[in-house]
Amino acid sequence: MDYRKRIECVLEGTLSQTGSGSTRLVEAMRYSALGGGKRLRPTLVYTVGVALGASLESLDDPAAAVELVHVYSLIHDDLPAMDNDDLRRGRPSCHKAFGEASAILAGDALQALAFERLAGPANQLPEEAVHRLAMVRLLAAGIGTSGMAGGQAFDLESVGRKLDVSALQQMHRLKTGALIETSVLLGAAAAGVLSGPKWHALHEFGAAIGLAFQIQDDILDVTGTTDAIGKIAGADAAHDKPTYTSLMGLKGAKAAAEAQRARACAALTPLGTAGKGLEALAGFVIGRAN
Ligand code: IPE
Ligand code: IPE
Ligand code: MG
Ligand code: MG
Ligand code: MG
Repeated sequence: MDYRKRIECVLEGTLSQTGSGSTRLVEAMRYSALGGGKRLRPTLVYTVGVALGASLESLDDPAAAVELVHVYSLIHDDLPAMDNDDLRRGRPSCHKAFGEASAILAGDALQALAFERLAGPANQLPEEAVHRLAMVRLLAAGIGTSGMAGGQAFDLESVGRKLDVSALQQMHRLKTGALIETSVLLGAAAAGVLSGPKWHALHEFGAAIGLAFQIQDDILDVTGTTDAIGKIAGADAAHDKPTYTSLMGLKGAKAAAEAQRARACAALTPLGTAGKGLEALAGFVIGRAN
């Protein structure tokens, strides 16, 4: 993950400039945003953007925005009202460390900060403002009712129920796939690519690795140790969550993840050699151990 150091620096900078009426709120935001993680979503923004000719500087804001949204989603996902998980990234979840009220507000404020960063400075050039608006729209669409938030609602309504494959796939696409797909598309948008064969190829690629990512997350909940995954192993079964492994077994889930990896790589053809780094990331998504 080449871009990990860069995004950590960018996040540190953003979070150190955050003014607040409450030191505790900013502490909770920093605790969760600067506390590890694979940084896959910003890595996708950088990898796609650079492959399409964008400068690293122009990718810092969208990269920071997706990670800030992701961190907000993790904080809320762990709350007692949602998954009720006490361990995240190998440390107590935000609500365990700071209390539920601070965790809810930290998530809210991280989401706001993401959009502030993505919108950019007030005095930008008109051409840049057009790109920025497109990116703000993409992020909003990816995380709202027909994206991440919709998927999380679907997930919570499905506890204790047996879903069929197409419903489970839809739930995974929305709750996790949508933000990963959005990360890919933000990289493209920052490079000025918002239509055409490359855009469509990246759409398909992002959708496939997004789904593959959540299938692998389900798999790791079964095969991983608490130490390795930094969250309590076996939590999905304990909470009676419908998952790929509970529906089709470990072997079936692994085959489904591999099928999405292959679909993702096949989609990259219009990118030619520029797609190489993305092919490697698709392999990482299903080969990872945490
Ligand atoms: C965990 O995401 C939550 C899901 C969407 C499955 P990651 O596995 O990317 O978590 P971090 O950022 O590396 O901690
Ligand atoms: C999380 O799915 C999806 C989002 C946070 C949007 P999970 O609930 O499976 O993620 P983990 O396993 O807690 O990281
Ligand atoms: Mg969840
Ligand atoms: Mg969870
Ligand atoms: Mg999970």
